[in-house]
Amino acid sequence: MIFKDIWLDVKAVKERDPAARNVLEALLLYQGVHALIWHRFAHWFYRHRMFFIARLISQVARFFTMIEIHPGAQLGHGILIDHGAGVVIGETAVVGDNCTIYQGVTLGGVGTQKGKRHPTLGNNVMVGAGAKILGAFEVGDNCYIAANAVLLKPLEDNVTAVGIPARPVKKDGVSLPKNKRTLTLEEYESMKERMAQMEREISYLKEALDSQKASEAGAGPETAVQAGEAEKS
Ligand SMILES: CC(C)(COP(=O)(O)OP(=O)(O)OC[C@H]1O[C@@H](n2cnc3c(N)ncnc32)[C@H](O)[C@@H]1OP(=O)(O)O)[C@@H](O)C(=O)NCCC(=O)NCCS
Repeated sequence: MIFKDIWLDVKAVKERDPAARNVLEALLLYQGVHALIWHRFAHWFYRHRMFFIARLISQVARFFTMIEIHPGAQLGHGILIDHGAGVVIGETAVVGDNCTIYQGVTLGGVGTQKGKRHPTLGNNVMVGAGAKILGAFEVGDNCYIAANAVLLKPLEDNVTAVGIPARPVKKDGVSLPKNKRTLTLEEYESMKERMAQMEREISYLKEALDSQKASEAGAGPETAVQAGEAEKS
């Protein structure tokens, strides 16, 4: 079973990484494959409650590959960890079949509570470089999580999510309307500048109004009547 899984992981590199030349190269030179091989054994020890050995294997794997997969994580078949450096997969994470995970991805938790605290990825999910998926929720099949996205909520099947916090931008390959989009930094800065300008103008008008009121009060009621008569004539 373990060897079949390893073979499927090697095949996944050959099929999904355009830079991979052949299966031998994938087996010998891809750290993502090495991390998965170490993990398959570590997970076996974990399932047989030999936690120390399991953890030891995963730490040795981390030293050589810069990929940290907790031995408790459940990984499906045909997984591609491309480049891999900085990938962290937590203890209660589940990764479905044929998922692709790029460098710098975290499948992590958000608290210190015990029990299920890491995400569950469906099948054929792509997690872009640097993306973080944090919390115990499900990501549906065939989802794309953009590079550097921070996903904090579940996703249905066939959704593309981007940004921080990540929001769906496509469903079944069709773009979603943008009516709920947030301000960009440039838009915010320009709005701030316009507000400051409006404040300056309001305070100028207020001063002008105050000084006019003061001069009218100083002139007295007779002057105001005379000014009114002059206007009529
Ligand atoms: C998420 C991703 C799969 C989207 O691919 P896609 O389906 O072709 O989507 P589009 O390029 O049409 O983008 C859809 C919208 O999301 C935005 N978007 C795409 N990727 C984004 C990202 N990483 N961060 C923020 N916004 C992103 C686009 O600007 C576009 O916005 P718009 O509709 O306002 O113009 C792709 O952009 C991505 O991030 N892939 C990860 C690849 C990676 O990590 N490679 C590492 C190689 S070493």
